[in-house]
Amino acid sequence: MTTPFLPPRIVAPSILASDYGKFGNEAADAEAQGGDWLHLDVMDGHFVENISFGPGVVKALRPHTNLFFDVHLMITRPDHYWEAFAKAGANGITVHVESHHDVQMTLKKIREAGLKTGLALNPSTPFEEVQPFLTDIDLLLVMTVVPGFGGQSFMRETLPKIEAGVTERNRQGLRYHIEVDGGIDAHTAADATRAGANALVAGTTIFKAADRAAAIRSLRDA
Ligand code: DX5
Ligand code: ZN
Repeated sequence: MTTPFLPPRIVAPSILASDYGKFGNEAADAEAQGGDWLHLDVMDGHFVENISFGPGVVKALRPHTNLFFDVHLMITRPDHYWEAFAKAGANGITVHVESHHDVQMTLKKIREAGLKTGLALNPSTPFEEVQPFLTDIDLLLVMTVVPGFGGQSFMRETLPKIEAGVTERNRQGLRYHIEVDGGIDAHTAADATRAGANALVAGTTIFKAADRAAAIRSLRDA
């Protein structure tokens, strides 16, 4: 039995909750306040009921920070658009298993382009849906809210999927991060990390905090 992969704690501020009027400064602040990755929520108004931003914004944010760009594509056709985000400066691209594309082919192409690959599943999607792709990913994103908007409440019924992600990672000797996104604060982060998540996406908790560095520390220590 190989020793289980225990990835480090990662705190990923989600720029979706920041002040869009000063996006560049907010991206720089996420780094200055102690974030590890910058989580960029891309929404197309079709896969989710909201529209956020495209590759042009990612490109504009790139020079403002050295943080790893963890791009979360909540879009219907990630197979068609992933490359534009790669060219814009993404370091990791996460696609949804529910969207209409050849998941394995999309993940393969992202990896061949030299980026990290991620696969996300919504709260209502059973873990079995991502099972066939676990060897193709560097990150499994277990959505802890219905995607589309920040500021929602953590859905505890997603915890067993985090545990399933750990079990399968150990059983197959794989090495993917397990990331959670939505409603993450110090309390829900404790539940999610106890279940096995190591990468914590937080928008509201961090960007709306009076002391962002303290908010990030509270997640790192949860
Ligand atoms: C999907 C988005 C949000 C965002 C985090 O809706 O991915 O979950 O990143 O939102 P908060 O941390 O504000 O719940
Ligand atoms: Zn996200």
